[in-house]
Amino acid sequence: MSALSELYQEIERCRRCEIGYTRNKVVPGEGAEDADIMFIGEAPGWHEDQQGRPFVGPAGQYLDQLLASINLNRQQVYIANVIKCRPPGNRDPLPLEIRNCRQWLDRQIELIRPKLIVTLGRYSMAMFFPGKSISKIHGTAQKRDNIIYYAMYHPAAALHQQSLRQAIEADMKKIPSLLAEAQAIPQAKPEPQQLKMFEV
Ligand code: URA
Repeated sequence: MSALSELYQEIERCRRCEIGYTRNKVVPGEGAEDADIMFIGEAPGWHEDQQGRPFVGPAGQYLDQLLASINLNRQQVYIANVIKCRPPGNRDPLPLEIRNCRQWLDRQIELIRPKLIVTLGRYSMAMFFPGKSISKIHGTAQKRDNIIYYAMYHPAAALHQQSLRQAIEADMKKIPSLLAEAQAIPQAKPEPQQLKMFEV
């Protein structure tokens, strides 16, 4: 069994938060174990909670289209969320839930060692771009410790707002050149101890 599959079992057993008891299925993440790009969303919604897979509802279908617009599919990338259990009623994740769940995302990043991390929405952005506003930094990237971090709007927000939709589609188109840049960084895959995230 791969280290990532073992991690999924640990995540499945986690009951640190109330939502560990109210969720239907845990949604650890999925995709290529050696993906160069990792997309990080917010939290599972109803569809994800039913299937145990990230981004499989309307926002996920839109994410698939966005990936296709740059000739990628979900088997070539890794997709995870900031929190792994569905908040009831699709409420926003609580700070405690984000803190409790963070160890799982840390471990996923350590195991997958992506070269490009794309944050989807403000909760994910806040972990890597602390104190920033998504309306200001979407479509911009920062290189730290040989990883490129890139902030985008959340597909669910962009789906229903024309101006955000144009922005997310334009931001997606910048990914191929960022990926090429990230892949060209010598020893772009950092050792786990080099990874840094910020408190939110
Ligand atoms: N929204 C997210 O942030 N993640 C999902 O998995 C689905 C919708």
